[in-house]
Amino acid sequence: MSVAPAAREPESRELEGKVALVTGAARGVGAATVAWLHARGARVLATDVRPEVHDLATRFDRVSTLVGDVSREDVAVRSVATAIDRFGGMDILVGNAGRSVNKPITETTAADWDELMSVNARGTFLHAREAFRVMRERGAGVIVTVGSFACTVGLADAAAYSASKGALAQLTKVLALEGGPHGIRANVVAPGVIETDMLDNFRADSRAYLRSFGDAHPLGRVAQPEEIAEVIGFLASPRSGFITGAVVAADGGYTAA
Ligand SMILES: NC(=O)c1ccc[n+]([C@@H]2O[C@H](COP(=O)([O-])OP(=O)(O)OC[C@H]3O[C@@H](n4cnc5c(N)ncnc54)[C@H](O)[C@@H]3O)[C@@H](O)[C@H]2O)c1
Repeated sequence: MSVAPAAREPESRELEGKVALVTGAARGVGAATVAWLHARGARVLATDVRPEVHDLATRFDRVSTLVGDVSREDVAVRSVATAIDRFGGMDILVGNAGRSVNKPITETTAADWDELMSVNARGTFLHAREAFRVMRERGAGVIVTVGSFACTVGLADAAAYSASKGALAQLTKVLALEGGPHGIRANVVAPGVIETDMLDNFRADSRAYLRSFGDAHPLGRVAQPEEIAEVIGFLASPRSGFITGAVVAADGGYTAA
Protein backbone atom coordinates (compact mmCIF):
# COMPACT_ATOMS: atom_id res chain seq x y z
CA MET A 1 0.00 0.00 0.00
CA SER A 2 1.37 3.45 -0.88
CA VAL A 3 1.20 6.40 1.46
CA ALA A 4 -0.38 9.72 0.52
CA PRO A 5 2.36 12.34 0.14
CA ALA A 6 2.27 15.42 2.33
CA ALA A 7 0.70 18.48 0.68
CA ARG A 8 3.32 20.57 -1.13
CA GLU A 9 3.90 24.20 -0.38
CA PRO A 10 3.02 26.50 -3.30
CA GLU A 11 6.02 27.38 -5.44
CA SER A 12 4.67 30.73 -6.55
CA ARG A 13 1.65 32.95 -6.59
CA GLU A 14 1.10 31.94 -10.19
CA LEU A 15 -2.64 32.68 -10.03
CA GLU A 16 -2.25 36.22 -8.68
CA GLY A 17 -4.94 38.40 -10.24
CA LYS A 18 -7.09 35.43 -11.31
CA VAL A 19 -10.68 34.99 -10.17
CA ALA A 20 -12.05 31.50 -9.55
CA LEU A 21 -15.50 30.13 -8.77
CA VAL A 22 -15.56 26.78 -6.94
CA THR A 23 -18.87 24.96 -6.39
CA GLY A 24 -19.44 22.41 -3.63
CA ALA A 25 -16.76 24.19 -1.61
CA ALA A 26 -18.00 23.69 1.97
CA ARG A 27 -15.92 20.57 2.54
CA GLY A 28 -14.00 17.73 0.90
CA VAL A 29 -12.42 18.25 -2.51
CA GLY A 30 -14.07 21.66 -2.98
CA ALA A 31 -12.66 23.10 0.26
CA ALA A 32 -9.20 21.68 -0.53
CA THR A 33 -9.38 23.28 -4.00
CA VAL A 34 -10.27 26.68 -2.55
CA ALA A 35 -7.21 26.41 -0.27
CA TRP A 36 -4.98 25.38 -3.21
CA LEU A 37 -6.12 28.25 -5.46
CA HIS A 38 -5.96 30.78 -2.64
CA ALA A 39 -2.40 29.73 -1.76
CA ARG A 40 -1.35 30.52 -5.37
CA GLY A 41 -2.79 34.03 -5.15
CA ALA A 42 -6.26 33.61 -6.69
CA ARG A 43 -9.39 35.33 -5.45
CA VAL A 44 -12.11 32.75 -5.00
CA LEU A 45 -15.89 32.73 -4.77
CA ALA A 46 -16.75 29.53 -2.91
CA THR A 47 -20.35 28.30 -3.18
CA ASP A 48 -22.30 25.45 -1.63
CA VAL A 49 -25.80 24.50 -0.57
CA ARG A 50 -24.41 24.16 3.00
CA PRO A 51 -24.10 27.39 5.01
CA GLU A 52 -20.81 26.03 6.46
CA VAL A 53 -19.22 27.35 3.27
CA HIS A 54 -19.15 30.75 5.00
CA ASP A 55 -16.36 29.43 7.27
CA LEU A 56 -13.98 29.71 4.31
CA ALA A 57 -14.42 33.48 4.20
CA THR A 58 -13.28 33.70 7.81
CA ARG A 59 -10.32 31.34 7.24
CA PHE A 60 -8.98 33.02 4.11
CA ASP A 61 -8.68 36.59 2.86
CA ARG A 62 -9.55 36.89 -0.88
CA VAL A 63 -12.29 34.24 -0.46
CA SER A 64 -15.93 35.21 -0.64
CA THR A 65 -18.89 32.85 -0.24
CA LEU A 66 -22.41 32.28 -1.48
CA VAL A 67 -25.03 29.72 -0.43
CA GLY A 68 -27.23 28.15 -3.09
CA ASP A 69 -28.24 24.94 -4.84
CA VAL A 70 -26.08 24.42 -7.96
CA SER A 71 -28.93 22.84 -9.88
CA ARG A 72 -30.89 26.10 -9.87
CA GLU A 73 -30.47 28.34 -12.89
CA ASP A 74 -30.81 31.53 -10.85
CA VAL A 75 -28.01 30.33 -8.54
CA ALA A 76 -25.67 29.72 -11.49
CA VAL A 77 -26.42 33.18 -12.88
CA ARG A 78 -26.01 34.80 -9.46
CA SER A 79 -22.77 32.95 -8.71
CA VAL A 80 -21.01 34.10 -11.86
CA ALA A 81 -22.38 37.64 -11.48
CA THR A 82 -21.23 37.72 -7.85
CA ALA A 83 -17.68 36.61 -8.74
CA ILE A 84 -17.50 39.44 -11.27
CA ASP A 85 -19.08 41.92 -8.92
CA ARG A 86 -16.87 41.11 -5.91
CA PHE A 87 -13.62 40.34 -7.71
CA GLY A 88 -13.90 41.82 -11.20
CA GLY A 89 -13.59 38.70 -13.37
CA MET A 90 -14.23 35.03 -14.07
CA ASP A 91 -11.05 33.23 -15.09
CA ILE A 92 -11.47 29.76 -13.58
CA LEU A 93 -14.57 27.66 -12.91
CA VAL A 94 -14.26 24.48 -10.85
CA GLY A 95 -17.54 22.58 -11.19
CA ASN A 96 -17.12 20.29 -8.19
CA ALA A 97 -20.47 20.06 -6.38
CA GLY A 98 -21.77 16.52 -6.47
CA ARG A 99 -23.87 13.95 -4.72
CA SER A 100 -23.93 10.19 -4.80
CA VAL A 101 -26.58 7.55 -4.26
CA ASN A 102 -25.48 3.96 -3.91
CA LYS A 103 -28.20 1.42 -4.55
CA PRO A 104 -28.77 -1.49 -6.90
CA ILE A 105 -30.65 -0.56 -10.05
CA THR A 106 -33.88 -2.17 -8.83
CA GLU A 107 -33.87 0.05 -5.73
CA THR A 108 -32.91 3.24 -7.54
CA THR A 109 -35.93 5.54 -7.60
CA ALA A 110 -36.89 8.09 -10.21
CA ALA A 111 -36.26 10.72 -7.53
CA ASP A 112 -32.69 9.40 -6.99
CA TRP A 113 -32.09 9.57 -10.73
CA ASP A 114 -33.52 13.08 -11.06
CA GLU A 115 -31.55 14.38 -8.10
CA LEU A 116 -28.17 13.12 -9.30
CA MET A 117 -28.72 14.26 -12.87
CA SER A 118 -29.86 17.58 -11.47
CA VAL A 119 -26.87 18.24 -9.17
CA ASN A 120 -24.03 16.46 -10.99
CA ALA A 121 -24.97 17.09 -14.62
CA ARG A 122 -27.46 19.98 -14.82
CA GLY A 123 -25.74 22.01 -12.06
CA THR A 124 -22.37 21.68 -13.78
CA PHE A 125 -23.93 22.56 -17.15
CA LEU A 126 -25.62 25.71 -15.83
CA HIS A 127 -22.48 27.03 -14.13
CA ALA A 128 -20.30 26.17 -17.12
CA ARG A 129 -22.67 27.89 -19.52
CA GLU A 130 -22.77 31.08 -17.45
CA ALA A 131 -18.98 31.11 -16.97
CA PHE A 132 -18.42 30.30 -20.65
CA ARG A 133 -20.42 33.36 -21.74
CA VAL A 134 -18.13 35.65 -19.76
CA MET A 135 -14.92 33.82 -20.73
CA ARG A 136 -15.81 33.93 -24.42
CA GLU A 137 -16.19 37.70 -24.26
CA ARG A 138 -12.79 37.99 -22.57
CA GLY A 139 -11.18 35.50 -24.95
CA ALA A 140 -9.78 33.35 -22.13
CA GLY A 141 -10.83 31.02 -19.34
CA VAL A 142 -10.45 27.60 -17.79
CA ILE A 143 -13.17 25.18 -16.75
CA VAL A 144 -12.38 22.12 -14.64
CA THR A 145 -15.21 19.74 -13.86
CA VAL A 146 -14.98 17.10 -11.18
CA GLY A 147 -16.10 13.77 -12.53
CA SER A 148 -15.24 10.35 -11.22
CA PHE A 149 -13.81 7.06 -12.40
CA ALA A 150 -17.51 6.60 -13.23
CA CYS A 151 -16.88 8.95 -16.18
CA THR A 152 -15.18 6.05 -17.95
CA VAL A 153 -16.28 2.83 -16.23
CA GLY A 154 -19.68 1.90 -14.85
CA LEU A 155 -19.90 1.45 -11.08
CA ALA A 156 -22.19 -1.32 -9.85
CA ASP A 157 -24.86 -0.06 -7.44
CA ALA A 158 -24.41 3.46 -8.75
CA ALA A 159 -26.49 3.71 -11.93
CA ALA A 160 -27.66 7.29 -11.46
CA TYR A 161 -24.22 8.44 -10.29
CA SER A 162 -22.43 6.75 -13.19
CA ALA A 163 -24.90 8.16 -15.73
CA SER A 164 -24.59 11.66 -14.29
CA LYS A 165 -20.78 11.56 -14.37
CA GLY A 166 -20.82 10.20 -17.92
CA ALA A 167 -23.00 13.16 -18.89
CA LEU A 168 -20.62 15.55 -17.13
CA ALA A 169 -17.66 14.14 -19.09
CA GLN A 170 -19.42 14.58 -22.43
CA LEU A 171 -20.50 18.09 -21.46
CA THR A 172 -16.89 18.97 -20.67
CA LYS A 173 -15.63 17.69 -24.02
CA VAL A 174 -18.17 19.90 -25.80
CA LEU A 175 -17.04 22.89 -23.71
CA ALA A 176 -13.50 22.17 -24.93
CA LEU A 177 -14.59 21.93 -28.57
CA GLU A 178 -16.64 25.12 -28.50
CA GLY A 179 -14.21 26.91 -26.19
CA GLY A 180 -10.95 26.26 -28.04
CA PRO A 181 -11.38 28.99 -30.65
CA HIS A 182 -12.13 31.47 -27.84
CA GLY A 183 -9.13 30.60 -25.66
CA ILE A 184 -11.20 28.55 -23.24
CA ARG A 185 -9.89 25.20 -21.99
CA ALA A 186 -12.11 22.57 -20.30
CA ASN A 187 -11.07 19.30 -18.67
CA VAL A 188 -12.54 16.68 -16.34
CA VAL A 189 -10.72 15.34 -13.31
CA ALA A 190 -11.80 11.73 -12.78
CA PRO A 191 -10.89 10.66 -9.23
CA GLY A 192 -11.08 7.24 -7.67
CA VAL A 193 -12.41 6.95 -4.14
CA ILE A 194 -11.50 9.91 -1.93
CA GLU A 195 -11.64 10.01 1.86
CA THR A 196 -14.37 12.63 2.27
CA ASP A 197 -17.78 12.87 3.92
CA MET A 198 -19.34 11.62 0.69
CA LEU A 199 -18.41 8.14 1.89
CA ASP A 200 -20.96 8.55 4.70
CA ASN A 201 -23.43 7.12 2.20
CA PHE A 202 -21.76 3.77 2.59
CA ARG A 203 -20.79 3.39 6.09
CA ALA A 204 -21.85 1.03 8.68
CA ASP A 205 -18.20 0.60 9.54
CA SER A 206 -16.31 3.42 7.87
CA ARG A 207 -12.78 2.10 8.51
CA ALA A 208 -13.58 -1.31 7.00
CA TYR A 209 -15.17 0.45 4.04
CA LEU A 210 -12.13 2.65 3.50
CA ARG A 211 -9.89 -0.42 3.53
CA SER A 212 -12.07 -2.28 1.06
CA PHE A 213 -12.26 0.75 -1.23
CA GLY A 214 -8.50 1.16 -0.97
CA ASP A 215 -7.92 -2.46 -1.91
CA ALA A 216 -9.83 -1.89 -5.17
CA HIS A 217 -7.17 0.59 -6.33
CA PRO A 218 -3.78 -0.67 -7.55
CA LEU A 219 -2.09 1.85 -5.22
CA GLY A 220 -3.83 0.08 -2.35
CA ARG A 221 -5.42 3.13 -0.77
CA VAL A 222 -8.00 5.83 -1.33
CA ALA A 223 -7.07 9.44 -2.20
CA GLN A 224 -6.91 12.42 0.10
CA PRO A 225 -8.88 15.50 -1.06
CA GLU A 226 -5.66 17.53 -1.29
CA GLU A 227 -4.26 15.13 -3.91
CA ILE A 228 -7.32 15.73 -6.09
CA ALA A 229 -7.14 19.49 -5.49
CA GLU A 230 -3.55 19.36 -6.79
CA VAL A 231 -4.75 17.91 -10.12
CA ILE A 232 -7.64 20.35 -10.34
CA GLY A 233 -5.23 23.21 -9.63
CA PHE A 234 -2.78 22.04 -12.27
CA LEU A 235 -5.58 21.92 -14.87
CA ALA A 236 -6.73 25.38 -13.76
CA SER A 237 -3.25 26.87 -14.10
CA PRO A 238 -1.37 27.97 -17.25
CA ARG A 239 1.04 25.05 -16.73
CA SER A 240 -1.56 22.80 -18.42
CA GLY A 241 -1.96 25.25 -21.32
CA PHE A 242 -2.12 22.59 -24.05
CA ILE A 243 -4.51 20.22 -22.26
CA THR A 244 -8.16 20.51 -23.16
CA GLY A 245 -11.05 18.10 -23.66
CA ALA A 246 -9.29 15.49 -21.52
CA VAL A 247 -10.64 13.15 -18.87
CA VAL A 248 -7.71 13.17 -16.46
CA ALA A 249 -7.70 10.10 -14.24
CA ALA A 250 -6.57 10.54 -10.64
CA ASP A 251 -7.73 7.14 -9.50
CA GLY A 252 -4.76 5.24 -8.10
CA GLY A 253 -4.79 3.06 -11.21
CA TYR A 254 -8.39 1.90 -10.85
CA THR A 255 -9.19 2.31 -14.55
CA ALA A 256 -5.82 1.05 -15.81
CA ALA A 257 -7.01 -2.53 -16.22
N1 LIG B 1 -15.50 11.03 -2.42
C1 LIG B 1 -15.30 10.23 -3.45
O1 LIG B 1 -14.97 9.04 -3.28
C2 LIG B 1 -15.40 10.73 -4.87
C3 LIG B 1 -14.91 9.93 -5.90
C4 LIG B 1 -14.96 10.41 -7.21
C5 LIG B 1 -15.49 11.66 -7.47
N2 LIG B 1 -15.97 12.42 -6.43
C6 LIG B 1 -16.54 13.71 -6.79
O2 LIG B 1 -15.82 14.74 -6.15
C7 LIG B 1 -16.67 15.88 -5.97
C8 LIG B 1 -16.52 16.36 -4.54
O3 LIG B 1 -16.99 15.36 -3.67
P1 LIG B 1 -16.43 15.12 -2.19
O4 LIG B 1 -15.88 13.75 -2.15
O5 LIG B 1 -15.61 16.28 -1.78
O6 LIG B 1 -17.82 15.05 -1.41
P2 LIG B 1 -18.45 15.95 -0.25
O7 LIG B 1 -19.79 15.37 -0.03
O8 LIG B 1 -17.51 16.05 0.89
O9 LIG B 1 -18.54 17.39 -0.93
C9 LIG B 1 -19.48 17.69 -1.91
C10 LIG B 1 -19.97 19.11 -1.67
O10 LIG B 1 -20.97 19.39 -2.68
C11 LIG B 1 -22.03 20.05 -2.03
N3 LIG B 1 -23.30 19.90 -2.74
C12 LIG B 1 -24.03 18.77 -2.86
N4 LIG B 1 -25.18 19.02 -3.51
C13 LIG B 1 -25.15 20.36 -3.79
C14 LIG B 1 -26.06 21.23 -4.43
N5 LIG B 1 -27.24 20.80 -4.91
N6 LIG B 1 -25.72 22.54 -4.55
C15 LIG B 1 -24.54 22.99 -4.07
N7 LIG B 1 -23.65 22.22 -3.43
C16 LIG B 1 -23.96 20.92 -3.29
C17 LIG B 1 -22.10 19.43 -0.64
O11 LIG B 1 -22.83 20.24 0.28
C18 LIG B 1 -20.63 19.26 -0.30
O12 LIG B 1 -20.10 20.38 0.38
C19 LIG B 1 -18.08 15.41 -6.32
O13 LIG B 1 -18.43 15.85 -7.61
C20 LIG B 1 -17.96 13.90 -6.29
O14 LIG B 1 -18.90 13.26 -7.13
C21 LIG B 1 -15.93 12.00 -5.15
